[in-house]
Amino acid sequence: MNLKSALRAFLIGVSASASMAHAQTVPLTIETDRPGAKIDRQIFGQFAEHLGRGVYEGVWVGPDSSIPNTRGIRNDVVAALRELRVPNVRWPGGCFADEYHWRNGIGPLAERPATLNPNWGGVIEPNSFGTHEFLDFVQQIGAEAYISVNVGSGTPQEAADWFEYMTTAQPTALAKQRAANGHPQPYGISFMGIGNESWGCGGSMTPEEYAAQLRIYARYTRNYNAEHPTRKIAVGPDGANTGYTEAVMKAWKERNWSWDIDGLSLHYYTVGAGWPPKFAATGFGVQEYATLIDYTLRMNDLLRTHGAIMDKYDPEKKIALVVDEWGAWLAPTPGSKEGFLEQQNSVRDAIIAALNINIFARHAERVRMANVAQMVNVLQAMILTDRDKLVLTPSYHVFRMYVPFQDATLLPVKFDAGTYANGSIKLPRIDAIAARGKDDKTWLAITNIDPTGPAQLELTTRARRAAGQILSAPTVDSVNTFEAPATVAPKSFEAKSSGNRISLKLPPHSVAVIELEP
Ligand code: AHR
Repeated sequence: MNLKSALRAFLIGVSASASMAHAQTVPLTIETDRPGAKIDRQIFGQFAEHLGRGVYEGVWVGPDSSIPNTRGIRNDVVAALRELRVPNVRWPGGCFADEYHWRNGIGPLAERPATLNPNWGGVIEPNSFGTHEFLDFVQQIGAEAYISVNVGSGTPQEAADWFEYMTTAQPTALAKQRAANGHPQPYGISFMGIGNESWGCGGSMTPEEYAAQLRIYARYTRNYNAEHPTRKIAVGPDGANTGYTEAVMKAWKERNWSWDIDGLSLHYYTVGAGWPPKFAATGFGVQEYATLIDYTLRMNDLLRTHGAIMDKYDPEKKIALVVDEWGAWLAPTPGSKEGFLEQQNSVRDAIIAALNINIFARHAERVRMANVAQMVNVLQAMILTDRDKLVLTPSYHVFRMYVPFQDATLLPVKFDAGTYANGSIKLPRIDAIAARGKDDKTWLAITNIDPTGPAQLELTTRARRAAGQILSAPTVDSVNTFEAPATVAPKSFEAKSSGNRISLKLPPHSVAVIELEP
């Protein structure tokens, strides 16, 4: 065979196998009689750091702004976030948390000091959005508060004072100060982060150094609001590094009566190889798409690795693995300010969101909380704003479509994922999770990872109808813009059963969430 005919034979083989793969119907069954763990709604948490335009402009415009607001907080952003039923918001950072001094952010706005934000662009931090504004914001969107205290540059006393200020009902000097600042009732704080990335921007501590700090902070930073318990979350691993997992879990195992924690944090971003992040947020093709999906799927191995170490010290799974920073971290939008971490959000990011949520759900016994980074205008954002304009990203739509999975009970799904290959990268063609919702309905979420063709699925079910929404897009890099906000928007669809089977066809690179109606 000469080179030309060999190439022709190869190409015929590729297209034949590709079209066979597309033509192949994938059987899928939900094992409704084998309910699993509860998918904790907290895995749909958000993260809002004082970084770039995430808080200032994205959430806070101030009470005097011409942008419609309630006590300084944007009404349009609040309305959009309410649709997501955001369970919790992590604040004030991130790296910012370990340089944040809470006393700068209370009292009359005009008297608050201007400080610096050296981590993120070295800009002025006006401190206009402080404790009361954050707690007002979470109350407006119906979420719980996750507050990270400053371990890096603060003191145990400063952190203890902050929690006393927020949570005590006793007439202490700090409670009186809180009342004078407009909130006589104690606040309820659901989660306390004890530092952030103490292995890096939070103080470059060895695992043992951090464990020593953890014992002190976990002891003295107290919640005084007995009606609203606070769960404490320790700093844990950076991606695949297991040092913090071992050291913190060992310290916890050997703890005495004087301190305790409830969670261990893991940070893992979908970056691709190298640093700083260089994968483009727009204008990319299937090769870059496949590479980043491959990196995202590594989350599963991380959860397995860290989960196995945690099992060693905590077989009863008392300590939650809390993935409180995850998402795509891409090259910044050209022309955006350095350190502001602004990036567009494509249907690829929506798929990254769906795949991560699916992975968290499958690890529901251990992974009981997660926070996507970040909520508005930063990294894998739900919402982008430009002055008074707002656009919902493809990732936002995934979070909204997945609302029925909040606190639902996982149901096993049997299917053959198949393979989508791009060069040496091999990915599953499809991914799926199912659950029995709190509404007692059966829900199925399917992602067609394959960007080259539709996925044809055949669901064996007693349901008579499947109805739901599909998020798809013309190309893998399709985005929503202020000018064209609905390029990537969910569309309703339904399918009827025929002889215990429902056929579903998912467009390439798409996500569907479906209710199975009896
Ligand atoms: O989300 C941006 C930054 O990423 C956070 O501040 C930090 O914790 C992480 O490295």
